[in-house]
Amino acid sequence: MPDILVLYYSRNGSVARLARQVARGVGEVPGMAARLRTVPPVAPVTRVAEPPVPESGAPYVERADLDECAGLVLGSPTRFGNMAAPLKHFVDGLGAEWASGTLVGKPAGVFTSTTSMHGGQESTLLSMMLPLLHHGCVIAGIPFTEPRLATTRSGGTPYGASHVAGTGDDPEPSEDEAVLARALGRRIATLAARLG
Ligand SMILES: Cc1cc2nc3c(=O)[nH]c(=O)nc-3n(C[C@H](O)[C@H](O)[C@H](O)COP(=O)(O)O)c2cc1C
Repeated sequence: MPDILVLYYSRNGSVARLARQVARGVGEVPGMAARLRTVPPVAPVTRVAEPPVPESGAPYVERADLDECAGLVLGSPTRFGNMAAPLKHFVDGLGAEWASGTLVGKPAGVFTSTTSMHGGQESTLLSMMLPLLHHGCVIAGIPFTEPRLATTRSGGTPYGASHVAGTGDDPEPSEDEAVLARALGRRIATLAARLG
């Protein structure tokens, strides 16, 4: 069964919860399955190394996941209007995959979470698209035929799925945010099935 790689970084759980909704959407497409993976945090070389396997949650991504996936969805918290360093660090290590065209022609989407409503969701989503374009992915967002895109009072954008965690850092997506995250997963999986 072809997999859609749902690859994310999350420190406080918001992006992780959105990732699970994206994965649910992937699973709603007949014959498609989601492969949830994360990336380790980055730290100065003087800091003690993390264990090679996370204590909980999704396993760390491996190069084979990129090779094997039929499409991918990248998620990151917003950090000053941009993707977080751990995801960028992983992406910056993909020179070999870029050279061999591992991701060329594969559909891809993006998702994020912020504290504030206008805290840079769209710039973060766009920042994640840039390396995907260099890798030859076919970028897809969420079309306005998804009715909740026009009515959401929090996250969910045509650029990709999103969550507004607020100053209390509430990781739980709203109903609109969850529906739109599932729509993104379904869309990438549907495109992968058609392109494959
Ligand atoms: C260094 C740093 C920079 C951040 N920059 C922004 C920002 O530009 N805009 C914003 O709204 N939230 C910002 N945040 C808040 C996170 O994006 C927000 O808490 C997010 O929901 C965290 O996702 P997570 O729970 O998956 O880790 C920042 C947080 C940190 C630690």
